[in-house]
Amino acid sequence: METKEVPDTPWILELYREHGEALRVVRAQMRRLYRTRCVPWRNRSPLHKVAARMVQPFAGPVGLEPRMLAQSDDEHCELPYLMLRAERPTRVVEISPFHGWSTSWILSALRDNGHGRLVSYDLIDASRRNVPAELAAGRWELVLGDARQQVRRDGEPIDFLLMDSDHSAEFAEWYLANVMPLVRPGAIVCVDDVFHHADPAKFDGEGPVVLDWLQKRGVPWFTCAKAKNPSALNALRGHRVTLRISDRIHTSDANPAIFFRHREVAGTA
Ligand SMILES: C[S@@+](CC[C@H](N)C(=O)[O-])C[C@H]1O[C@@H](n2cnc3c(N)ncnc32)[C@H](O)[C@@H]1O
Repeated sequence: METKEVPDTPWILELYREHGEALRVVRAQMRRLYRTRCVPWRNRSPLHKVAARMVQPFAGPVGLEPRMLAQSDDEHCELPYLMLRAERPTRVVEISPFHGWSTSWILSALRDNGHGRLVSYDLIDASRRNVPAELAAGRWELVLGDARQQVRRDGEPIDFLLMDSDHSAEFAEWYLANVMPLVRPGAIVCVDDVFHHADPAKFDGEGPVVLDWLQKRGVPWFTCAKAKNPSALNALRGHRVTLRISDRIHTSDANPAIFFRHREVAGTA
């Protein structure tokens, strides 16, 4: 398949067509992970409800509540999966994994590619206990600590970047100045939580800083955020219905991320 200069709806529909079968398998695996890790015992089935009542007194201070919080919407997980399949990157970087939901999707794509490694940076290590061992083995490294120190220390080139971390303007300025120069020109970058509203300033400082940076460099971007580009989201949804993968795993559907290809612009790194 031809590489697209800008990720856009027709390209993404093509990716759904090409990798639809593999995606269906991954979605079944992720749904299983979601049910066992994210859904409270008492909500899983009537049988679980009875079992939960019986073992609750012995469950300790943490109880039987879910151990994993999933923060990314279905399409937001599927799009990176499909793009990772198409691009076959060697070194993927994720800032940050939180409980490992996005991480498990990324690692599923690398497993299905039979190629590539992921490095994730976070202040907390909750993802380590949630990411399935068979996905992590040989392809995942979690680096603990402030990404602002750790990524600079690593200094290795990045073939695909996923940003979903501190959403402040200061953090955005840091990664645009310090992480983007490590990103290979032409590589896809995904920044989550930009368009919770049509006006990104209503959410946090990161979105306006990133959009301004892209505009100054003339870099086009794509979003299927419900608040910004509902027609793209509807097109993807319609297509997912025809592929019989429209049932939701995670309940939220804002899909506030943007996607773009990194461009090296002389004198503006
Ligand atoms: C929104 S959550 C990531 C959600 C995750 N991508 C998912 O889909 O489930 C943000 C994460 O950024 C981490 N974080 C915030 N500031 C950070 C920093 N300076 N360095 C590294 N991680 C940071 C937090 O610990 C948290 O786990």
